[in-house]
Amino acid sequence: MERQPKLRSARWLDADTRMGNLHRQRLKQTGYSEQDFRGKPVIGILNTWSELNPCHMHFRERAEDVKRGVWQAGGFPVEIPVASLGEPFMKPTTALYRNLLAIEVEEMIRCHPIDGAVLLGGCDKTTPAMLMGAISVDVPSIFVPAGPMLRAIWRGRPLGSGTDSVVMHNEMRAGRISKQEFDAIEEAGARSAGHCMSMGTASTMTALADVLGFTLLGASSIPAPDSRHARMASQSGRCIVEAVHNDLRPSKMLSRSSFHNAVATLMTLGGSTNAVIHLLALSRRAGLDLTLDDFADASAKVPVLANIKPVGSHLMEDFFEAGGLPALLSEISDLIDGEAQTITGRSLAEGLAGAVRIGDDVIRPRSNPVHDVGGLAILKGSLAPEGCVIKRAAADATLFRHRGPALVFDGLADMQTRLDDESLPVTQDTVLILRNVGPVGGPGMPEWGLIPIPKKLLAQGVSDMVRVTDARMSGTHFGTIVLHVSPEAAVGGPLALIRDGDIVSLDVEQRRIDFEVSGEELERRRAAWRRPEVFHQRGWVKLHQEHVLSASVGCDFDFLERGNPSPEPEIS
Ligand code: FES
Repeated sequence: MERQPKLRSARWLDADTRMGNLHRQRLKQTGYSEQDFRGKPVIGILNTWSELNPCHMHFRERAEDVKRGVWQAGGFPVEIPVASLGEPFMKPTTALYRNLLAIEVEEMIRCHPIDGAVLLGGCDKTTPAMLMGAISVDVPSIFVPAGPMLRAIWRGRPLGSGTDSVVMHNEMRAGRISKQEFDAIEEAGARSAGHCMSMGTASTMTALADVLGFTLLGASSIPAPDSRHARMASQSGRCIVEAVHNDLRPSKMLSRSSFHNAVATLMTLGGSTNAVIHLLALSRRAGLDLTLDDFADASAKVPVLANIKPVGSHLMEDFFEAGGLPALLSEISDLIDGEAQTITGRSLAEGLAGAVRIGDDVIRPRSNPVHDVGGLAILKGSLAPEGCVIKRAAADATLFRHRGPALVFDGLADMQTRLDDESLPVTQDTVLILRNVGPVGGPGMPEWGLIPIPKKLLAQGVSDMVRVTDARMSGTHFGTIVLHVSPEAAVGGPLALIRDGDIVSLDVEQRRIDFEVSGEELERRRAAWRRPEVFHQRGWVKLHQEHVLSASVGCDFDFLERGNPSPEPEIS
């Protein structure tokens, strides 16, 4: 492999100028000597640690583990804090800030003397955001995934992050368990550092970072507190120094095959619907555009083999013990391109050599899949001309062909006010619609797509019904819910025009979602439509609402998705 002729950081640190003198002087101020940094690759460790991000609470230690590896390999490590995007606490949604972290990562690398980057992330949006930034700035980058937290057990029963909270909350709303029983899961649900340990967005996106080649192969499956996780971090530090010497930047590593492999992996994981948005955005940053059709094609031929909640019954720690991602990928080796490159300098196929699947339930063999087609389906139709997504592996198959009258909620507050009203005109055939909660309308497309089953139907034993929205849904959640409807209602998509009582027809097999209203009537409604009161007048949210693109192309900003690599800064 071709060795990097000149380090990027040399412009700052080797220059025989007043500025070069100042840069060296200021590094010496921090206690380092010339032999610590001169002529060495400078490795920026971008750390999303925060006390309001419990998924990343081990990242201070992991940064030290990475530094150890960087020193050993002859690099010079520097740690830089970046925004954390802790899923549990940021409102209305971390997705509003994914592009903010992406810009921050791009700019923090671009403006500093950094030759290679180690990206410490894992909680949902941190993974795509950091990779988007790294792709745009195009310096060699390795991702150190936070790893899933340890499995949660309550009264002998495994609790999947997010998933079982919804199950038990519904049980309580239906009066089948007490408030005290529900409250008790607070104590047991999250017992270590690490991200959600169901196959939610975090587990999905870190696995996709892995198959895209941004991690040591299999790193995403290692539980956060396991000593192998610390050793993986050190090894990542050693690896990135070598990647800098070999100039293994994202533009050289990524290919169309990388992204097609990621789509196939998403399907076999039964992974999060959010990954569709993030993969679209990542591929467009790389100039290797995926479209929703790529997901539809993969969905038709890749079976779900990962038996992990919410689609299956196990948790991420079980997945790791069953062989983790390498074992899963080996099962679909004929459906992925093993020639795709990784940050290690080896191909995906070389990395998979020796992968072993332990047992045949957590990672299923091809002969006994969890589902014989992919976990997600892409739908289009008069209600979603640009497309939308349903997690069919976590939905009720008896609802896959359904016609029913719409009941429309205009935003979260409207839904919360009316949903449990005993007089709500709703039956199990009704199609619940939640709109004005998309990328612009939300703002940020919050995970409000899990529209609760109305209380009076829960009491009748209804556990699923067709729901449609321009919002997203947590990857840990489930139900027959049509998500990411594009174009969204807040910009005048057809979802804005549907009214109570209109007949909605869903046909997952035919990949259709339609509403039955005449063209004339639709034109009348369009002429009467007014923009909803969702627009902000200042700050980040205004910038977001003015520039965010549709979910059908990944919700990136129009001025960010192209134009990499970002230009080198001038130095006086
Ligand atoms: Fe961080 Fe779920 S809260 S991954």
